[in-house]
Amino acid sequence: GAEPDLAGPWSMVNQSNSKRKAVSEMFILPEHMRPTVTHNDYTDLEIPVIDVSALFDPPQHDEKVMEGLVAQVRDACLHWGFFQIVNHGIPEELLERFHGQGKQFFALPFAEKMKVARQQGQYTGYGHATVKKGDVRPWSEGFYFANDGSTAEFAKKLWPEDTNDDFLNSYSEYNEKVQGLSECLMRIIVDGLDVDPAYFETFSKHAGGLLRWNFYPACPEPQKTLGLKPHTDFNLLTVLHQGDVGGLQIEKDGKWIPVRPRPGALAVNIGDTLQVLTNGKYKSVPHQAVVNATQSRISSAYFYEALPSTVIVPHPDLVDENNPLQYEPFTGEAYRVYKQTQFLNTLEHFVRKK
Ligand code: SIN
Ligand code: FE2
Repeated sequence: GAEPDLAGPWSMVNQSNSKRKAVSEMFILPEHMRPTVTHNDYTDLEIPVIDVSALFDPPQHDEKVMEGLVAQVRDACLHWGFFQIVNHGIPEELLERFHGQGKQFFALPFAEKMKVARQQGQYTGYGHATVKKGDVRPWSEGFYFANDGSTAEFAKKLWPEDTNDDFLNSYSEYNEKVQGLSECLMRIIVDGLDVDPAYFETFSKHAGGLLRWNFYPACPEPQKTLGLKPHTDFNLLTVLHQGDVGGLQIEKDGKWIPVRPRPGALAVNIGDTLQVLTNGKYKSVPHQAVVNATQSRISSAYFYEALPSTVIVPHPDLVDENNPLQYEPFTGEAYRVYKQTQFLNTLEHFVRKK
């Protein structure tokens, strides 16, 4: 029957999980937009895997070890815009506990999840990736956690008698750890640029973050749809835990490269804001999520972002006659709104007119 625009896709997703043999039309992409590489079609071509233990372990002051790490990260940023990290200090137990809570959340009946639906102009809550009205729907559901203290209220709506402490604890433990890790990563990324690092402190010192669970139910016709359409991230850098079921793919030289899941590893990518701050030296790379017929999949993305009021302008040391200024200044907030309302995947709007 006719369902409200917002409710439709999510309830369809739920039904499709158990009952449907075919994908409803609202998820079917035109042929030229369909995935060309399946979720587990791995080859030898893989994004760099970097051991970041030098960030934490003694001898952390061994300059050679740190220099080696900074160089590896710089190479990955220059050539890929994406890398995986291991020995990052977030225990696998916590990663699994947080995803375990996510799986419980998405398994709730649709009506329960709608009690915590994300409202216009609000960040925390149940929802899916932004799509333009009339666009084909992504085969996924999401839950956003804003760092504004509202998550506990949302948990109470879901579990009124017995607020789910495991849900809240795993979220706050993971959020705190992934934020700390992002700050460290930002520092080594900046170190690799060989410029005055003070400039970046404005953007990273008081930076916040937004966490999101992405849930992709198993899909009867995975070749006809996408869990998330190709996009770039709006923020400084993203730390993604994709669990043990693959689905993330990144664009490289016009091809889609699947990111092989590695237990305990986290994927890191450059977002649009950092592309602008580096005057385009580091690229925010398009990526997408494909789905598969047999396994549901959960991922969590932490979006480390600049303060909304900060004006984003390329680092002056990265602008010279060989590298002319590429972008117009804009604030973090203006960009977030732009990205959410224009549904564009490029920085086009901010590219400086010659
Ligand atoms: C994302 O781009 O936010 C998530 C991709 C994934 O689930 O692998
Ligand atoms: Fe993304």
